Amino acid sequence: MFSEESFFKKYKPYYLKGMYYTIFLALIGVFFGAILGTVLALMKLSTKRAIKWPAIAYIEYLRGTPLLVQIFLVFFGSNVIGFELSALAASCLALSLNSGAYVAEIIRAGINAVDQGQTEAARSLGMPAIKTLRYIIFPQAIKNILPALGNEFVTVIKESSVVSVIGVGELMFQAGVVQGSSFKPFLPIMVASLLYFFLTFTLSRLLGVYERRLAIHDSY
Ligand code: ARG
Repeated sequence: MFSEESFFKKYKPYYLKGMYYTIFLALIGVFFGAILGTVLALMKLSTKRAIKWPAIAYIEYLRGTPLLVQIFLVFFGSNVIGFELSALAASCLALSLNSGAYVAEIIRAGINAVDQGQTEAARSLGMPAIKTLRYIIFPQAIKNILPALGNEFVTVIKESSVVSVIGVGELMFQAGVVQGSSFKPFLPIMVASLLYFFLTFTLSRLLGVYERRLAIHDSY
């Protein structure tokens, strides 16, 4: 089965293109997801109900419905309200909206994990609440947040495979193209899976190195 070197030669461009799209989608999704997630997390930490409640509703709704459904909603929904979003644009948007909800929880958890005493100490020294968050809490929370954001990137690389359903030419879509053109059901998917694994494994190794480096400073 793997002896068919012509298979790899012939279909390499498809897989390369697919990986390019997959990485692109994941980068966009996590980048905008991180921005949206930060806003949502801050909203959720607010004591005002009018600010807190919409963020909670958004996060719960996006985490409580399948990404597949959200992709269809954004793709077809954009047409309904008069925006003709391309499949790629709709995918970027859906992945960002989805990731934002997950990142919000990552950030909120990262902030909550910082000892309450840090806030109490800063506040009792007369530091205003916003400054306390900015200069005392956030620099400590970032150590919890960054590694988890890396994991989110790994997740979005895998989850981006779902956008193949609306025809975006990412890795899983290309595997389907190769299936159709080679008349082979198994090998093209196997290759795609190995490429996904290559991406996620490399990334999580790199993240592991980075995480250990962050941890060094904790031992001082
Ligand atoms: N597969 C699940 C879904 O369809 C999880 C999505 C996870 N997304 C994320 N950005 N972490 O809802």
